[in-house]
Amino acid sequence: MEPLPPPRPGRVAWSLTCLVLLALRGWPGAGAQVTQGFELQQPQDKVSMEAGETLTLTCTVSPGGPPGSMKWLKGWGSENQTIYGQTGSFPRVTRAVDESETDFSIHIRDVQPEDAGTYYCVKFQKLFPDGEELFRRGKGTEVSVLAKPTHPVVSGPGRRVGPGESVPFTCTAGGFFPQDISVKWFKNRTSISAQPAQITPGQTKASYNMSSTVTMTLRKEDVRSQLICEVQHLTLRAPLRGTYQLSQALRVSPIVHVDADPPSPVGVNKTVKFICHVKGFYPGNVNVTWLENGTEMSLQNTSRPVEMSQGLFQLSSVVEVKAMEEKNGSTFTCRVVHDAQVPVERVTTLWIAAPDREGVNSMSTAANGSLLVIYIVVGVVCTVLALLVAAILYLIRMKQSKGKSSPSARLHEPEKSSEATTQESDPNNLTYADLNFEKEKKSIRRMVEMSQQSEYACIQTNRAPNGDDNLTYADLDMVHLSKAPKRPAPHPEETGSEYASVQIPRK
Ligand SMILES: *[C@@H]1O[C@H](CO)[C@@H](O)[C@H](O)[C@H]1NC(C)=O
Ligand SMILES: *[C@@H]1O[C@H](CO)[C@@H](O)[C@H](O)[C@H]1NC(C)=O
Ligand SMILES: *[C@@H]1O[C@H](CO)[C@@H](O)[C@H](O)[C@H]1NC(C)=O
Ligand SMILES: *[C@@H]1O[C@H](CO)[C@@H](O)[C@H](O)[C@H]1NC(C)=O
Ligand SMILES: *[C@@H]1O[C@H](CO)[C@@H](O)[C@H](O)[C@H]1NC(C)=O
Repeated sequence: MEPLPPPRPGRVAWSLTCLVLLALRGWPGAGAQVTQGFELQQPQDKVSMEAGETLTLTCTVSPGGPPGSMKWLKGWGSENQTIYGQTGSFPRVTRAVDESETDFSIHIRDVQPEDAGTYYCVKFQKLFPDGEELFRRGKGTEVSVLAKPTHPVVSGPGRRVGPGESVPFTCTAGGFFPQDISVKWFKNRTSISAQPAQITPGQTKASYNMSSTVTMTLRKEDVRSQLICEVQHLTLRAPLRGTYQLSQALRVSPIVHVDADPPSPVGVNKTVKFICHVKGFYPGNVNVTWLENGTEMSLQNTSRPVEMSQGLFQLSSVVEVKAMEEKNGSTFTCRVVHDAQVPVERVTTLWIAAPDREGVNSMSTAANGSLLVIYIVVGVVCTVLALLVAAILYLIRMKQSKGKSSPSARLHEPEKSSEATTQESDPNNLTYADLNFEKEKKSIRRMVEMSQQSEYACIQTNRAPNGDDNLTYADLDMVHLSKAPKRPAPHPEETGSEYASVQIPRK
C-alpha cells in the first residue's frame, strides 16, 4: 500500500470504493460487477533496442479498478522478477507519468543484454485481511536488446614456432545479440579461409560468444606479417578488427659460420681475427660466446643485432688471437644461443706455419709486392736484351750492305703481285729494276732513292707479259725475284749478279 497521501478527491473516492467493496465482499455478484469495467492495456508487442538506451514500457489502466498494487514483472511463473512496484527501490526505473492513476508506463535506463525478456504489466487485487492476488495482466512485451560484440581478440599458439610449422590462431568476440555475426580473416591484405565461427551462449541468456580459428603455416617472411580478424554485426557501423603480429609466434634460427682473417696456417706471432657471423634470426636475442679449446674466452667483441630488411636480425662477434707457437692446433668455437634454444656451435682450428715454411710464408706475404718488382725487372732486362740483339743484327746487315763492291738492286715492295720485270742499265752507274704491274693502276711509277749509295728500283705498272699472278720471276742479271720470305742477299755474293729480295704476298 502507498504511504498515506494527502487527502485528494480521487483518494477519497477510492477509499469510499474500498469501504463499499469491503461491505459487499460477502456478496459475490457485487465484486464481479465492479471489476467488469476495468481495463488494462499493454500495447507494445515487441521492442528491440541497443544496449545503453532507455527502454519505455507502456501500460494504461481504466480508472476505478479494485484496490491492490500495480507491478511490472519480467518473466512469468516461478522465474518472474519484479522490475517495478509501488513499493521497493528500483534505481534504473522511473515512471513515465508520476503518480498517475491510469498511466503505469515506465522507463528503464541503460538497458543491458540481460534486460532482454518478456515484461508484463500486472494489476493485483488486495485480499482481506492482508495479501493480494493477481487481478489482471497485460499480454506482455517482448524486449530484445541488440548488443555489440566485444572487440575481437586474436590469440596465437602461445609459443614460438619455426618456419614451416602449422599453428592455429583463434579470434574471439562476445556479448553480442542477435547471434548472426560474420567473421573474416586476413593476412596482411590477403583474405584467408577459416573454419565457420562457433557461436555459443554468452554470459547472459540474451547474448552470444563467437570463436573462429584459422590454421596457418608460418614462413620466415612472416616476421613483418599481421593477422587480422574482422567481425561484422548488425549493431556495427564499421567492422571491428582484431590484429595479431605473426612475429609473436615466430622463431627463425640463425645461420652461423666462422671466418679466420688471415686464414690458417699463419706465421708465428701474427694476429688472427676469428669472426663469427650470426645471420637471419628472430627474435633479436642471441648470446654469443667464444671458447678456446673448450674454455670460455674473455676478450670478445660482439656487435649489437642489426635488423635487416625482412625484419630478421644479424650480428657478428670477433676475437683476436696472437698465433703463438704453442697455440698450434688450438680450436676456437663460436657458441650461439638463440632465444633460449639449443646452442649452435661452429669450430675452427688455428694452424701455425712451421718455421721453415715460415720463410716462404713471410716471403709470400712480405714479398708479394717484391715479387712483382722482380717480374718487372726481369721483363725490363729481357726487353733490353731483345733490343740489343735487334740492334746488333741491324748493324751486321748495315755492314754487309756497305761492304758490297758491286751495286745491288733494291726493290720497293709491290702492293700485291708483281709481274715480269725489265731492267735497264743506268748510265750513271745506277741500277734500275723495272717491275711491271698489271692490275695496280695507281702504283708508284717511279721511286727514286736520293742516296748516292743506294741503287734504284723503279717499279712500273706496265702491261704484263703473261697472266701468271702467283709467281713472278724476273730472270734478269741483276734482279732476282723470289717468293721466299725476305732474306738478306747471299753471302758471299755471286759475281756478276745482284740480288733483290722481293716479298710478294699471295692474293
Ligand atoms: C512470481 O514468483 C513468486 C516466487 O517464485 C511466486 O510466488 C509468484 O506466484 C510468481 N508470480 C507470478 C505472477 O508468476
Ligand atoms: C563470452 O565472451 C566474453 C567476452 O569476450 C567472456 O568474458 C566470457 O567469458 C565468454 N563467455 C563464455 C560462456 O564463453
Ligand atoms: C714470438 O713472440 C714471442 C714472445 O712474444 C717471442 O719469444 C718469440 O721469439 C716470437 N717468435 C717469433 C718467431 O717471432
Ligand atoms: C669492438 O669493435 C668495435 C668495432 O669493430 C670497436 O669500435 C670497439 O671498440 C670494439 N670493442 C672492444 C671492447 O674491443
Ligand atoms: C703446427 O701443426 C701442424 C700439424 O701438426 C704442423 O704441420 C706444423 O709444422 C706445426 N707448426 C709449428 C709452428 O709447429
